[in-house]
Amino acid sequence: KRLFLINGPNLNMLGKREPATYGKKSLEDVETLVKEVAAEQGFEVKSFQSNHEGDLVDWIQRAEEEAEGIVINPAAYTHTSIALRDAISAISKPVVEIHISNVHERESFRHTSMLAPVCSGQVLGFGIDGYRLATLGMIQKIESEGR
Ligand code: DQA
Repeated sequence: KRLFLINGPNLNMLGKREPATYGKKSLEDVETLVKEVAAEQGFEVKSFQSNHEGDLVDWIQRAEEEAEGIVINPAAYTHTSIALRDAISAISKPVVEIHISNVHERESFRHTSMLAPVCSGQVLGFGIDGYRLATLGMIQKIESEGR
């Protein structure tokens, strides 16, 4: 059983990028955390990061054949991308959206998610630990119902 972990633009700079908002842990730390949590539940994880919208669309589509579900931090594309939303709608696998920061206490342009209406759930405001919560929630969803 496999999960996809997908991280969007600028998350390759995690740990260096605005540490007061996003913390000091790196993307590699996030990947290690998610892999450990998933392994305890009998899941393997394939991890992707890109700064390019089309790459993210490709991986969402691939999950239909290659994964049971997706944990995704779409970063800035959360607030703008109809293409990512349509990709999520196009697959039958569950998707959980995660944000490190509490986007609702930030600028108003971060208050809207194009993706949330087509995702199974959302985790936000718990820092890097949100990835653990999102992974456990995702696995719970897969084991109980599917989508
Ligand atoms: C983010 C929140 C987004 O608004 C922002 O563009 C990011 C990171 C988060 O994890 O808190 O790049 O998705």
